[in-house]
Amino acid sequence: MDDHNGRRSTPPRLLLRIAAAVLLLLSPAAVTPAAGHHDTGVHKNFLVLVRSSYEYDKNLHKNVSSWHASLLASVCDMAKEALEADPTAMTRLIYSYRNVVNGFAARMTPEEVDKMSKMDWFDRTLPEQTYHLLTTRTPQMLGLTGPAGGGRRGGAGGVWNTSNMGEGVIIGVLDDGIYPGHPSFDGAGMKPPPAKWKGRCDFNKTACNNKLIGARSYFESAKWKWKGLRDPVLPIEEGQHGTHTSSTAAGAFVPDVSVFGNGLGTAAGMAPRAHIAFYQVCYVDSGCDRDDILAAVDDAIEDGVDILSVSLGHEEAIDFSDDPVSLGGYTAIMNGVLICAAAGNTGPSPGTLVNEAPWLLTVGASSTDRRFLATVKLGSGIELDGESLNDPKTNMSEPRPLVRDMGGGTCASESVLLAQNITGKIVVCEAGGSIVTEKAKLIKRAGGVGMVAVTPELFGKMSMPRPQVIPTVQVSYDGGQKMKVYMRATPKATATFVFKGTTFNSPQSPMIAPFSSRGPNRRSRGILKPDLVGPGVNIIAGVPTIRDMEFPANEATPKFDIMSGTSMSVPHLSGIIALIKNAHPTWSPAAIKSALMTTVEATDNLRKPIADYDGKPATYFAMGAGHVNPKRAMDPGLVYNMTARDYVPYLCGLNYTDEKVSTIIYPDPPVVCAKMPRLEQDDLNYPSITAILDQPPFAMTANRTVTNVGVASSTYVVEVDVPATATVEVNPTKLTFKALDEVLNYAVTIKSASGKVPTGPIEGQLKWVSGKYVVRSPILILPGGPTKATTPKPANATLLS
Ligand SMILES: *[C@@H]1O[C@H](CO)[C@@H](O)[C@H](O)[C@H]1NC(C)=O
Ligand SMILES: *[C@@H]1O[C@H](CO)[C@@H](O)[C@H](O)[C@H]1NC(C)=O
Ligand SMILES: *[C@@H]1O[C@H](CO)[C@@H](O)[C@H](O)[C@H]1NC(C)=O
Ligand SMILES: *[C@@H]1O[C@H](CO)[C@@H](O)[C@H](O)[C@H]1NC(C)=O
Ligand SMILES: *[C@@H]1O[C@H](CO)[C@@H](O)[C@H](O)[C@H]1NC(C)=O
Ligand SMILES: *[C@@H]1O[C@H](CO)[C@@H](O)[C@H](O)[C@H]1NC(C)=O
Ligand SMILES: *[C@@H]1O[C@H](CO)[C@@H](O)[C@H](O)[C@H]1NC(C)=O
Ligand SMILES: *[C@@H]1O[C@H](CO)[C@@H](O)[C@H](O)[C@H]1NC(C)=O
Ligand SMILES: *[C@@H]1O[C@H](CO)[C@@H](O)[C@H](O)[C@H]1NC(C)=O
Repeated sequence: MDDHNGRRSTPPRLLLRIAAAVLLLLSPAAVTPAAGHHDTGVHKNFLVLVRSSYEYDKNLHKNVSSWHASLLASVCDMAKEALEADPTAMTRLIYSYRNVVNGFAARMTPEEVDKMSKMDWFDRTLPEQTYHLLTTRTPQMLGLTGPAGGGRRGGAGGVWNTSNMGEGVIIGVLDDGIYPGHPSFDGAGMKPPPAKWKGRCDFNKTACNNKLIGARSYFESAKWKWKGLRDPVLPIEEGQHGTHTSSTAAGAFVPDVSVFGNGLGTAAGMAPRAHIAFYQVCYVDSGCDRDDILAAVDDAIEDGVDILSVSLGHEEAIDFSDDPVSLGGYTAIMNGVLICAAAGNTGPSPGTLVNEAPWLLTVGASSTDRRFLATVKLGSGIELDGESLNDPKTNMSEPRPLVRDMGGGTCASESVLLAQNITGKIVVCEAGGSIVTEKAKLIKRAGGVGMVAVTPELFGKMSMPRPQVIPTVQVSYDGGQKMKVYMRATPKATATFVFKGTTFNSPQSPMIAPFSSRGPNRRSRGILKPDLVGPGVNIIAGVPTIRDMEFPANEATPKFDIMSGTSMSVPHLSGIIALIKNAHPTWSPAAIKSALMTTVEATDNLRKPIADYDGKPATYFAMGAGHVNPKRAMDPGLVYNMTARDYVPYLCGLNYTDEKVSTIIYPDPPVVCAKMPRLEQDDLNYPSITAILDQPPFAMTANRTVTNVGVASSTYVVEVDVPATATVEVNPTKLTFKALDEVLNYAVTIKSASGKVPTGPIEGQLKWVSGKYVVRSPILILPGGPTKATTPKPANATLLS
């Protein structure tokens, strides 16, 4: 972490080099360049997909990896030699997959790939691909240090009780590392993991416990492309992000937590009694390798996790048959494991979503009701409200001169932040050019005593404070403009800071974060994504150390820091899923997802439609169904259920080739689409309804099936709410259930009122209402064709400053 100032947290790197050796010996996948085998650099990593009709023959091969090794050896001479000399060497085979795909990862030359492509069993290869954790882009994008947090209140309120804190549920987290000594991962009071747990912990016995039950690193593929990546051995490398996400999902109770006196309270994850199984697949400053991600999911499913929490994604949406989250996610749901994935941080432009497959729970980010209030009092008496993570006890009550730096106000260069200009003064800086933490350090070095950081216009009403080395207040863009007016008019401008600490009555919340990626779904326009939003702005959770901050040498208080991103929303949902899973162990992934989506909040604390970051009502492309409501999700009344096989006619309907459909659904048997019914996207039994009205007669009918999980004998009546530009008819309008688990159908006919193509997206909703329950589905009507970018905003800092 603290590469900037050369100070490292104390990574328990002491550990078990022996474990490394063991790992290398036991793993057939481990690539140990054998003597005589020269990886000359022309070799590259490929994911090799085997045709779906080829399966390994248990009579010929001891196991699936020896089968894959033999396939590889049939085209790679050196692999053949190695195999003959030592069948266990398999030096070119990186990973041999058992569950997620019919295939393997290998190092090959272009000639070898060419040769391989002529083999009967060959389907296709995918060149290496890098994924990213979905917090780090925010700071790069906006010139802010992003991640922030506090969201302990993130919304489990009312669900926790003595009988359900996620006991017995295992959350698998794929991320960049975990800091095992953190009190969030204390095993005290935790029961042992359920007997089905088969995973492994590469930390020592005291580091793993009944809370942190598994910990492994996946770097066999990454290590080839990121030379110099130290063999991680233990999944601890860095771990700022992974510690934060893991503790958000299932951190234990830690009393008296704060970030420098802010947000003081007892910290806990969403499911404080759930177990964490950690899979390291990402490496700081490099990214996450696709084939490592696939290998981790391959193992996690066999290990027995119940939920997969995946705060990573590609830069842009990828074909479902090429993407490890989608490929692994399908195998996961076949095994009853719901995979919760980030929507991406490239909002607010439309069409920026990743992780779009309908079998994933795709989560966008929203703000919480917490603010870390601080005021900048200008010499003129004007007060500007902002946020700060300085200790509320910090005293800045003496007026200090207020100055801008001469480098365009970005405070990004030492050469303009001169001591003679800023010593003893407060410097006003704009986002952009560099991260705010770096600006604070430069100012401190030159003798400045405080900073006002002006939030980019893009952030609208939101700010994302972080702890800084000097007293810092983050003000809104509007506040920044007022301050500039004052400074221009006043030769001896001054200011004081008042730190007011944490409040929980923010004027309007939740709001959608500007960075949260937006629909439409580019791979499947007929499925609305994101599915919903959850807390992802200014979330406080455990970290190994607080970056860029210094602590006394013997400082031992647990570290909590603030981060923002759809990365932070994902573990909130993963933890909430653990609570649902505990209450309803037999529910399918689709049922759990439906419970979450049909019970959301569509209004905010002011009872107005949930707003986007700019104060305007959020569209479905921004928030999906709406904001998660954990308490209602525990008891949704009805669910839209599906099995994994139900996606097959849908995939055929998307015009995927037989081979690609078979790749996705592996290890289910291969399919021939021509021999089965195709399903239009709008007919998938999804909890939201999207109608694409792009052809005469600009009308369609969607079928849905609901399962009663509420009260055995119950009657639901439909309520529809759409603008006058569309008509929606539901048949029947009343559903009468006599038993639990009873399944009933209905059809929704959606028409453009004009009989012509609708002029733009139309948003409405359909609710099944009984005395006790409201089961709501958003209805989105699209005119077809690419949705016009509403107000595309620049997604980079350069244009912001
Ligand atoms: C597969 O078989 C090979 C060759 O006997 C062996 O070395 C390897 O450990 C086996 N792999 C697994 C995953 O069992
Ligand atoms: C705790 O939550 C579970 C699941 O929602 C519920 O069935 C139970 O009645 C609750 N118990 C208490 C004491 O509130
Ligand atoms: C085990 O790991 C813990 C936590 O990382 C560390 O504090 C401890 O020193 C380690 N013990 C041994 C014997 O390596
Ligand atoms: C803040 O500092 C000033 C002088 O440095 C002092 O007079 C004042 O009492 C302090 N206020 C607080 C609240 O500590
Ligand atoms: C900063 O200091 C330099 C060198 O003393 C001086 O020339 C310049 O005018 C100062 N700029 C401001 C804005 O005070
Ligand atoms: C949903 O479907 C699955 C698979 O058929 C079934 O096991 C489950 O009981 C159904 N209902 C719920 C509420 O998950
Ligand atoms: C699939 O192909 C058919 C026939 O070409 C076409 O009508 C349909 O629109 C395609 N579906 C999608 C989702 O692209
Ligand atoms: C919808 O359901 C109705 C009644 O079950 C059926 O006749 C119709 O074919 C279904 N439509 C589709 C597209 O599956
Ligand atoms: C910023 O975004 C604009 C518009 O998308 C693009 O033209 C420009 O190259 C980008 N600049 C950087 C530095 O990425």
